[in-house]
Amino acid sequence: AYVVTERCIRCKYTDCVEVCPVDCFHEGPNFLAIDPEVCIDCAVCEPECPVEAIHADDRLPQGQEVFVALNAELARRWPVITQRKPPPADADEWADVDAKRALLEP
Ligand code: SF4
Ligand code: F3S
Repeated sequence: AYVVTERCIRCKYTDCVEVCPVDCFHEGPNFLAIDPEVCIDCAVCEPECPVEAIHADDRLPQGQEVFVALNAELARRWPVITQRKPPPADADEWADVDAKRALLEP
């Protein structure tokens, strides 16, 4: 499955959700998660993210492995999102920040 990683936290641009053919994105307060049981590995969401937060689970950037389990867990708790919405007002300020794991709101 594809996985939303750390770079999405506090950015949440939601460009990704518009292209997913199976609606497997789920929305939390400041992050999105992909349901790995629904994702069909079509890959179309990966290039849509402006901060390159989405990766295949077998090609994750170093240190992002924890997000595999996190996506599965959070997708079970959060509602599906299928339409793009405005990002947080300060999203651009977080776009270049790498260490945001502690800021993820459950
Ligand atoms: Fe949806 Fe395809 Fe991305 Fe999986 S890889 S989340 S099916 S757009
Ligand atoms: Fe997050 Fe990128 Fe989608 S910032 S909401 S994974 S477009």
